[in-house]
Amino acid sequence: MSPTILLTGGAGYIGSHTFVALVEAGYTPVILDNFSNSHPAVLDRLARITGMTPVCERGDVLDTPWVQSVVTRHTPAAVVHFAGVKAVGESVAQPLKYYRQNVGGSLSLLQAIESAVDAGAAPLPAFVFSSTATVYGDPDEVPVRESAPLRPSSPYAQTKLTVEEMLGCAVVARPAWRVGVLRYFNPVGAHASGLIGEDPSGIPNNLMPFVSQVAVGRRERLSVFGNDYPTPDGTGIRDYIHVQDLAEGHVAAVRALLAGQPGFTLNLGTGKGSSVLDVVHAFERACGRPVPYQVAPRRPGDVAEYFADPARARELLGWQARRGLDEMCADSWRWQSGNPAGYAGA
Ligand code: UFG
Repeated sequence: MSPTILLTGGAGYIGSHTFVALVEAGYTPVILDNFSNSHPAVLDRLARITGMTPVCERGDVLDTPWVQSVVTRHTPAAVVHFAGVKAVGESVAQPLKYYRQNVGGSLSLLQAIESAVDAGAAPLPAFVFSSTATVYGDPDEVPVRESAPLRPSSPYAQTKLTVEEMLGCAVVARPAWRVGVLRYFNPVGAHASGLIGEDPSGIPNNLMPFVSQVAVGRRERLSVFGNDYPTPDGTGIRDYIHVQDLAEGHVAAVRALLAGQPGFTLNLGTGKGSSVLDVVHAFERACGRPVPYQVAPRRPGDVAEYFADPARARELLGWQARRGLDEMCADSWRWQSGNPAGYAGA
């Protein structure tokens, strides 16, 4: 029997790629999603990639009784919790939305699981939580290790850290609960088929989707936010990780927890930093056309440089990122050029 893995937010960018990686690894993923920031067309794409029609429970993690019924019906061996909101700027403007969706949503999910388990309707599942490298804020040193000081600098980052702390308390109360926290660096790229990828609504906040929309002609030019940082070319440095590597990191985390590994908190990154201009130039190589840009003022809240120390993930999970920046850009371009309007054009 192939273990069932429940993916909240499984229709989203990272969730959909993890769906594919789990199927390839022999698991049976089930999607739970309210499609507030994803598109139902992804389900058909997942069917084309995997050859199986995804099972999808449509609803909200905040609906605790309904989530309990989902857990009871599917009795997952593990739950991977992606569902949440993730725009840093929006979180400053609407912090309560972030507390409700991210903290409230996680609380609701955990209570639903506990109720199903305590009712004897489901075994205690392993739990994997989508966290973020921004819990470190502006790091004192790079590469950033998991033991670095935690200084969330936005309500978004604060809500992720709050959930990490809540999970820590839940494990103290129920030591049998195996929980893996994954702190992502900058996920980019797309599945090599070009059938699924990142599809932000409105103007993209993040670099890679913006660059790809410029390349495909949806936007005129990129604004490079600052070229006077203390970095070799003056632009910000980040640890971009291919979303398929990230997805495989989740599979490794699930596998480790199901094999009895106690809980962990791990960075998922490549350990390599790339500047904004490195990304622009790699993308130009991938798409074979220029990506026009202009230098603009620094974006408030941005830090000069951060990248992961991914050694602990390698030791504990036997996982490491394999794909480089050129592959990330080539796959982003395949997705963007094949789907210029994202899933809406599907
Ligand atoms: N950048 C630009 N122009 C843009 C967008 C970004 O120059 O139009 C620069 C930024 O200044 C930064 C780099 O590109 O130097 C990366 O910016 P992103 O917005 O892509 O990524 P961040 O490191 O700011 O954000 C990351 C993740 C987000 C996550 C955030 C907080 O990519 O998904 O951390 O966790 F929300």
